[in-house]
Amino acid sequence: MDTTTFPNLTVGATITVEDYEAILTVLRSEQSLNRGKSINDFENAFATYINSGNAIATSSCTGALKISYQALGLLSPSKTVIIPINTFWNTVAPLVEANVNIEICDVEKDQLLVNTEQLESICRKKRVDGVVITDFGGHPNNYNELLNLRTKYGFYLITDAAHAVGSSYDSKKVGSLSDVTCFSFSTLKNMVTLGEGGMLTTDDSRIANMALKLRESWSTGAQIEHPSLYEEEFENLRTEEQNKLKFLRPGDSLKYSMPEIHNIGTNYKMTTIQAAVGITQLSRLEHNNELRKNISEYYVKQLQGSGCRVITPIENSKSSWHLFNILLPNRDLKKQLELLEIINRITKQDNVNRYWPVVDFPPIKPLVAKNSPKKYKNYTEIYFGRMVSLPINPKLDVNHCQMISSAVIDKLKQ
Ligand SMILES: Cc1ncc(COP(=O)(O)O)c(C=O)c1O
Repeated sequence: MDTTTFPNLTVGATITVEDYEAILTVLRSEQSLNRGKSINDFENAFATYINSGNAIATSSCTGALKISYQALGLLSPSKTVIIPINTFWNTVAPLVEANVNIEICDVEKDQLLVNTEQLESICRKKRVDGVVITDFGGHPNNYNELLNLRTKYGFYLITDAAHAVGSSYDSKKVGSLSDVTCFSFSTLKNMVTLGEGGMLTTDDSRIANMALKLRESWSTGAQIEHPSLYEEEFENLRTEEQNKLKFLRPGDSLKYSMPEIHNIGTNYKMTTIQAAVGITQLSRLEHNNELRKNISEYYVKQLQGSGCRVITPIENSKSSWHLFNILLPNRDLKKQLELLEIINRITKQDNVNRYWPVVDFPPIKPLVAKNSPKKYKNYTEIYFGRMVSLPINPKLDVNHCQMISSAVIDKLKQ
C-alpha cells in the first residue's frame, strides 16, 4: 500500500491562490486589521448564503456560543439548558462556568442526533430555558420536531453547527432555523479562516445587536449618564470650553455616557485578513461539500456488505459531510482502536476527524455518571467500541478512499 501520496489533512478545506490574494489585498490596502471592510463583507455574504437576517463573525465557534448564551440571558444558575450527550466540550463550557442547571439528553440510535422523545420528557418535568443541539458530523437534527417542541415549551433553540456549514433541512440552510446558530471555521472544518474563526447567525436583530456588543468588549445595558469621579478637581482645572470636549478618555469630561453593566463582553473579534479569506472560502464551500458528498457515496458503495453501518443524514436533509462515521457491527473496543490506528497510519496523521464528546469533560462526567447507562442507553451502546470516523477531506482522491475502505473491510473480516 503506497501511502506516500496521502495529502495533508490538518486543514479541512482547500487553500488556493484566491486565499493568498485575499490576504495580500487586505495587507496592501492598509485597512484596519481588526475592523476592516472585509469583516462586514464576509458577514453580509454569509447572511445571504444562509438566508439569515444577521451574521456576526467571531474568533471561534466557542466565542460565538458564549455570546449567544449571554445574549439570550441563559448564563445564570436560575436557568436550565438541555444539551445533547454527544456535543463538544467547548459547547458546554460557558454553561458550566456560569453554573447553569444542565440537563443532558440522550441521542437517537440512527444518526446520534438529539433524542426528541427524551427531550420532551425533560421539558414536561421542568421549565427549560434553552436547548442546545449539535448537527453532528454535519447531519441536521430533526428541526421539524424541535421547532414544534420549541413552540410548545417556549425555550430558545441554539444550534452548534460547528460541523454543519452548508447543511440544510427541508431546503432551508442550517443557520436559518434556530434562534441562534454558531459555526466554526477552525482548521479541520469544511471552510477555514486561517486556523480559527466562527460565525453566529440569527434572525432576531435584538439578539444580534447584543451579540455585536458582547463580541467587542462592550456590555449590553442601556447608556446612562455618569458624573465624573473627579468632578470637583475638573471644575477647578478646566475651562467651560474644555469641558464640552469629549475627545479624551471618558473620565476626562465632566459628564460622560457609559453603558450600564448587565453583561460583560470580551474580545471575540475576527481579524480582517481572516474575514477576507472567509469570503473566498465561502465561494468554494458548495463545491467542496459536493466533493465530500461524492467521497461519502464512494465509501457507502465500497463498504456495502462489510457488516458496518454508515451514519447517513435523515430524510429531508442535506449534510455538509463534515464527518463520515461508521458503526462496527458489534461493540469491540479493541477493533475500534486498531482501526483508528490503521487509519492514522495510512493518512500519516493523528486525530484526523476524531471527535471528543462532552461525556469525558470533567465537569460533566459526574452528571452523566449519575444516570448512565440507563438514561443514555443509545449513546452508551453505540458510541463506545463501535464508532469510527473515516477521512472525508475534499483533497482525497479515489485511490486514497480505496486504501481507506479496503483497510476497513480487511479489519472487519478479522
Ligand atoms: C461540535 C463542535 N462544537 C464546537 C466546536 C468548537 O469550535 P471552535 O474550535 O471554532 O471554537 C467544535 C470544534 O471542533 C465542535 O466540533
